[in-house]
Amino acid sequence: MKNLQKLTLCSMTVLLLSVLVWSCQKDVVISSHQTTPYLPTSVLNYSPTDIPEHFNGALPFPFDVDGNSIHDDSALEINSDMATLGRVLFYDNRLSLNNTISCASCHKQANGFADPVASSVGFKGKVTPRNSMTIVNPIMNNNLFWDSRASSIRGLVLEPVQNHIEMGMESIDKLSVKLSETSFYPELFQKAYGSEQVTENRIADALMQFLMSMMSYKSKWDAGVEQNFANFNALETMGKELFFSQRTQCSGCHSGVNFSAPDGFGNFDMRFLGNSTGDLIFTDDFGGFGGGEYFESQGTANIGLDMVYKDKGRGNGNFKIPSLRNIGLTAPYMHDGRFNTLEEVINHYDQNIQPHSDLDSKFRASNDTPKRMNLSNLEKRALEAFLHTLTDDSFVKDVRFSDPFLK
Ligand code: HEC
Ligand code: HEC
Repeated sequence: MKNLQKLTLCSMTVLLLSVLVWSCQKDVVISSHQTTPYLPTSVLNYSPTDIPEHFNGALPFPFDVDGNSIHDDSALEINSDMATLGRVLFYDNRLSLNNTISCASCHKQANGFADPVASSVGFKGKVTPRNSMTIVNPIMNNNLFWDSRASSIRGLVLEPVQNHIEMGMESIDKLSVKLSETSFYPELFQKAYGSEQVTENRIADALMQFLMSMMSYKSKWDAGVEQNFANFNALETMGKELFFSQRTQCSGCHSGVNFSAPDGFGNFDMRFLGNSTGDLIFTDDFGGFGGGEYFESQGTANIGLDMVYKDKGRGNGNFKIPSLRNIGLTAPYMHDGRFNTLEEVINHYDQNIQPHSDLDSKFRASNDTPKRMNLSNLEKRALEAFLHTLTDDSFVKDVRFSDPFLK
């Protein structure tokens, strides 16, 4: 068990830092830029507050060090000093070799932590082959990346990142030195960990605490659940009914309170805990859970985008069923950012699903051709209006998740 935990922590480190590593392949340019973060004198509280009932009930119960599940809110406590450090790291260009790119370069708060372009620009102008992804409720998210390649211990072990680890170790050591030499990181590490030492694990832990604190549960939809959707207008109500209907089947894939891959792969595979010491405790114990429809595919599906694949995703054109929270802010859409608007997305589902032997069964008519939803214009607008109710303004304006290098 301990080994598994270690392995996972290590793998998560790799996941979080692989982007850096990939930005860190060439010559070293260590010229610390002058910017220092503006941080409040007393630390902001990163533990979630006022979690509504429907959301709370869906959170995975984490485990304590002895493997017992924790059934109270303390389980969700975030170490605010670590999260603060994580916030600074997330926004710091020093995390790239030539001090030009941070996590936030491609995960922008105003865009629901996605990037408003199809391909993001990384280190030295290289562009990402896939569209940057929204970061929302990572605590409920255990199938990461468009191909769900980083999902659980299994997924990670299978992933050919071993080489990157070696490359990374070297680069991450350099990063540690670089951070130690700044005027402010030693103090931030001191606050978070009780000593100034900058290590790879500490960097990863802090980023994890920050990511885990990024919880979004204050959308119009969330408010609606608590009051039988009395806050919805007629169009949104119509859209909600369509979204949850047999006709569209949207909620068959974008399911649960995070509007992401259904349970069975969704929330049960790997649970994690970030406790006050920053230890992350993982388990891949399925607890006898049988597994759902998308279990085998790690929460991915083929939605008939193409007859011929440029990118096979997880294989056979299967891509992660992404969360639709804040979807109104995260354009462009799909793994390659091919659709600029929600209208285009809806038109795809309505009329353009391509026939393919890999197509998800939800989209097949009885004669095996792709189903056509034949939505009216009003129904399309309604669906779109519903999707906008998933936007959480407080989340994308929350100062705790904002750029500390800007005043
Ligand atoms: C150059 C752009 C770029 C940078 C820099 C970047 N990301 Fe990403 N991020 C992406 C792209 C593109 C994907 C999807 C990649 C894929 O599926 O192959 C992604 C995916 C992710 C995911 C998976 C989300 C999900 O729901 O599956 C997380 C989490 C994430 N990034 C966090 C980070 C963190 C933390 C950093 C900084 C250490 C970072 N990213 C830096 C572009 C970037
Ligand atoms: C069979 C499962 C499935 C069904 C049913 C489904 N989706 Fe999706 N959805 C996906 C997958 C998988 C993706 C990502 C596909 C890709 O990028 O290649 C996706 C992507 C999206 C996106 C873009 C997300 C982003 O971050 O780019 C939106 C918006 C969306 N779906 C809305 C809907 C709506 C509305 C419906 C109902 C009309 C629906 N989906 C039905 C699986 C499904």
